[in-house]
Amino acid sequence: MTGSRLLGTGSALPDRIVTNAELAARVETSDEWIVERTGIRQRHVAGEGETTATLATAAARAALADAGVEASSIGLIVLATATPDNTFPATATKVQAALGCNGGIAFDVAAVCSGFLYALSVADSMLRTGMAKRALVIGAETFSRILDWEDRTTCVLFGDGAGAVVLEAPSGESQGKDAPGILGTRLHADGAQHDLLYVDGGPSTTQTTGHVRMKGREVFRHAVVNLSDVLKEVLEETGVSADEIDWVVPHQANARILDATAKKLGIAPEKVVVTVDRHANTSAASVPLALDVARKDGRIKPGDLVMLEAMGGGFTWGASLIRL
Ligand code: ACO
Repeated sequence: MTGSRLLGTGSALPDRIVTNAELAARVETSDEWIVERTGIRQRHVAGEGETTATLATAAARAALADAGVEASSIGLIVLATATPDNTFPATATKVQAALGCNGGIAFDVAAVCSGFLYALSVADSMLRTGMAKRALVIGAETFSRILDWEDRTTCVLFGDGAGAVVLEAPSGESQGKDAPGILGTRLHADGAQHDLLYVDGGPSTTQTTGHVRMKGREVFRHAVVNLSDVLKEVLEETGVSADEIDWVVPHQANARILDATAKKLGIAPEKVVVTVDRHANTSAASVPLALDVARKDGRIKPGDLVMLEAMGGGFTWGASLIRL
């Protein structure tokens, strides 16, 4: 059966832009080093009063407007984040209250940079089983609040933002790979790799929020292997060949990971949507943000076959193929 259909997308970024030059004045780094190793030129950073919930709500409103549907028709909100407003309740419930669609289902999903893929899959499964008719799936982060701004190996890599999609339950008929909807998804986790990318704090351990810690070179190596493997799995599951894909919308961690993964699969680099230069790594927000950018600038069109993919702390990783 073809999965849930995507009705609209939206995104939100804080106004404040921090350039590489600004970071070079704070830690020992340079625009040249950051651009060459990562492709990042700038990132957006949340200001006073801006939180994961406010960015998520702005992205959700934009997605509802794009889909042309009312917030009151949303029965499910799944929000992917590693930087919730509070330890509890779920940030999704704050978004629900801000949109005024109380009463349906709302919860957060924690899978860090793969969070949006996990959230999309959970929402799709719930829509397929009739738990709701329409869903908002959101990826939203304020990673700037968990960065160690003295650590040049991590603070140059991340940014803040949010992206959202509106999904509608499938009709229930098997319609094949030309019909709009989610065609296939594969998710994975490997908890043994915890120490390569984690936050050194939390409510149950240190009672502090903690900071991002990462062994960048090892993460890079795992990312390319895991992502190309999961992309192959989704292609096999859906019976689609790599040349049939119109666009790849990857998690925006590093331009070199994007290039290496596309090359391994034989996908032309011009089919890969890249926003990492402007947004840096916005964790769970990066895939829906990039999807929204490429839909709104007219690159991704109705009927296109789009592969979404991400990998992050845990490790967690996944991919999803969707016909728009
Ligand atoms: N500016 C200048 N020098 C730096 C900086 C910086 N910002 N950061 C590290 N260096 C130095 C290091 O200290 C090291 O110096 P040394 O040789 O004197 O010890 C040197 O640069 C090389 O460091 P490496 O970590 O080996 O550099 P590498 O080429 O691997 O690039 C990077 C680092 C960009 C982090 C890369 O490993 C990477 O992108 N990894 C993937 C990590 C990632 O994207 N994580 C995000 C979350 S996971 C995900 O989303 C997939």
